[in-house]
Amino acid sequence: MMRKLDSYRSIESVLHSSDFQPALHIRDSRPLLDGCVLTLTGQEHRERRRLERPLFERSALEFYEHQTFKSSLQIAFQQAEAQRDEAGRPQVDLLWLTRMTLVPVTAAVVGLDGVDNEAAVIHLEDISRRLGEGASVEWSNRNHQEVMEEAMEAKDDLLVNFYNLSLERRRDLVTRWKSGDIEERDLPTDLLTLALREYFDDFDDDLWLRESLFFVVASANTTTHATPHVFNEIIKWRDEHPEESHLLEQEVFVRHAVDEALRLHGPVPALLRRALKNTDAIAGHSFLADDDIGCMLGPANTDQEIYGAQSAIFDPHRPEVLGRRAAHGLSFGSGAHICSGRPLAIGLPSPRDGGPEVIGVLPRLISELLSRGARLDPENLPTTRNDTKAERYASYPLIFETWPK
Ligand code: HEM
Repeated sequence: MMRKLDSYRSIESVLHSSDFQPALHIRDSRPLLDGCVLTLTGQEHRERRRLERPLFERSALEFYEHQTFKSSLQIAFQQAEAQRDEAGRPQVDLLWLTRMTLVPVTAAVVGLDGVDNEAAVIHLEDISRRLGEGASVEWSNRNHQEVMEEAMEAKDDLLVNFYNLSLERRRDLVTRWKSGDIEERDLPTDLLTLALREYFDDFDDDLWLRESLFFVVASANTTTHATPHVFNEIIKWRDEHPEESHLLEQEVFVRHAVDEALRLHGPVPALLRRALKNTDAIAGHSFLADDDIGCMLGPANTDQEIYGAQSAIFDPHRPEVLGRRAAHGLSFGSGAHICSGRPLAIGLPSPRDGGPEVIGVLPRLISELLSRGARLDPENLPTTRNDTKAERYASYPLIFETWPK
């Protein structure tokens, strides 16, 4: 039996306590996710986070956002050129666009080569979608075994078509660096290279394949499910507040609006934890060893104790008052397992030295859409999914008033 927690403070206390471990992988998705960072605890978890830290440092984030993301956006818009409707208007589905732009960024983070052309992006995009269904099988209304079989096939697809070759290239580079043929600065900063540098002689191919696929899922799927909700809240608010719509031209306001929308529509419905021992006095609750706990993010993120009586209303001014910490609620988790990709998704504070801003791929994508006059197509409205308990769109078609040259 799962105990559900729904107040912000009790969930935050559980997520910050070392008496609980993440428990998603203990269930049906185990074969896919076993050993990945989200399943680890204590020292092992700290070690993995340390190994992966360089992936989310400012210089790496600048590269993903200003190089990889921009070029993948260009590829996606080129591809969309060919997808005009009967009236000749460019049509883009926002779920598709988000995946097309995020998948190459994830490939750069993991170190998967060759994801720089339409066909490869579409292939990895398809793998990521199938893996995502497996990783979130707990919320699926479909037959769980069937979902997992499809996800395991996607894992093989990733292995054969992307992982093996990328790993071999990096093994070769790390060998050349170890023997002094190349400098450290010639090595790429990506997950596979960092892992090879640390564990070259006893490298576990399948473990790092699972870590890689977790990154693919954690990155592209969460962002893809979140983006239509974020866009939807923002355009609804703009229509209701035409006198304030100019604010959306400001980067900082878009960032606040994205935080506020993520608070209301985090793509992860609940964080699962298991008690490691008998514990009491966690925000007034007591737990027995092996108790399963569902930390329900929807109720926590609208908890009136934190967000006031209007907690369920989208108000992009709210983050100005709240400050960054609670602005997006617990949508990126909290405590030891807080999302490592958060700065990639929603950016870093402005640099003190005036260097390039890292505002995050989600605010950047939303700003791109707004500046191109993206709006809903009244003849082809979004549809939602009914094969999952999570709040997800099946399609979100957009038309554009200003199409890029
Ligand atoms: C809107 C976008 C995203 C949302 C809402 C999100 C949400 C989350 C949440 C809720 C967790 C914690 C799970 C738990 O404690 O049980 C998490 C963990 C994680 N996320 Fe994200 N995520 C997003 C984007 C990304 C991106 C872009 C990446 C990587 C490129 C990423 C990588 C990770 C990793 C590696 C973890 C595991 C951290 C650990 O266990 O220590 N995420 N994410």
